[in-house]
Amino acid sequence: MQRLTQFLKQKETPAELIELINLLMAACKEIDHKLREGALAGILGATEQENVQGETQKKLDVVANDILKLTLRESQLVRGIASEEEPDPVAAHPEGRFLVTFDPLDGSSNIDINVSVGTIFSILQAPEGSRGDDHAAFLQAGRKQVAAGYVLYGPSCLLVLTTGDGVNMFTLGHNGEFYVTREQVQIPATTQEFAINMSNQRFWDAPVKRYIADLLQGEEGPREKRYNMRWIASMVAEVHRILTRGGIFMYPWDARAPEKPGKLRLMYEGNPMSMLVEQAGGRSTNTQIDIMDVPPKAIHERVSVALGSKEEVEVLMQYHREE
Ligand code: AHG
Ligand code: MN
Ligand code: MN
Repeated sequence: MQRLTQFLKQKETPAELIELINLLMAACKEIDHKLREGALAGILGATEQENVQGETQKKLDVVANDILKLTLRESQLVRGIASEEEPDPVAAHPEGRFLVTFDPLDGSSNIDINVSVGTIFSILQAPEGSRGDDHAAFLQAGRKQVAAGYVLYGPSCLLVLTTGDGVNMFTLGHNGEFYVTREQVQIPATTQEFAINMSNQRFWDAPVKRYIADLLQGEEGPREKRYNMRWIASMVAEVHRILTRGGIFMYPWDARAPEKPGKLRLMYEGNPMSMLVEQAGGRSTNTQIDIMDVPPKAIHERVSVALGSKEEVEVLMQYHREE
């Protein structure tokens, strides 16, 4: 089996990008190690602090953020970082080629119950002459991403990565090396599985209500097939299921916070997951346009998300056009 570095070299990935991915993996292995130890490492439970998103930070949100920040700031390759858990971008090396954005710990509500969580990352080119702590430098549409991926801390620890040439999956071995275990992943174009937090039903807009109501009618409804449902509350785990066997995942706008476009964040969740999904032949939209075409206006901007099996996502988009 081939190791991550060997695999990337063989695909002619630029050496600096390989170095950065390895650095990210060094940080993620440390996070994985903390998670494996759980209560023994004192990482369960919440802190007293709120992050810039107005959410109470879990201990591991802070630990994971610090591990990634400290690791990346050391690197000559990184000009700056932006994190879901940091109010502002943090400068690293003034000559660094790359900017990195990340959700250090996705699915925080699952930490204490020992259910899968993840780290999501996105790599951008640092604009010429920009500073690593300048918000504007990061405001690049998802299409500009150089690479994107996530690490899923589940029963196995997996890296799922795209550098713009398809999606590949790597499994962490006991020896601390990631080995390629699935190449050129493709999401089936059709599906009979959806994922949405049904408890928000009364807050959705009309097209989402109508779409889900039609799915729930099964064989007797307009879609003429029976759908299954899943909700893990870790986007990483949901996207991983979709990359593995298809499906549609939605976190749409809802009327609980009408001024926000959605709950999930464009730069740390929407864009990197959209690059993976599109690179695997799926579709990812804010229900109107592809998420990667949304021009970001702020680093912590939110976005409505629907992604997964191409034909199913396009049906949902059609419900929005008909409204
Ligand atoms: P985070 O833990 O980084 O704040 O992200 C959690 C996100 C996402 O992973 C998940 O799909 C969703 O929030 C779950 O939200 P609900 O608890 O509203 O279902
Ligand atoms: Mn998240
Ligand atoms: Mn998070």
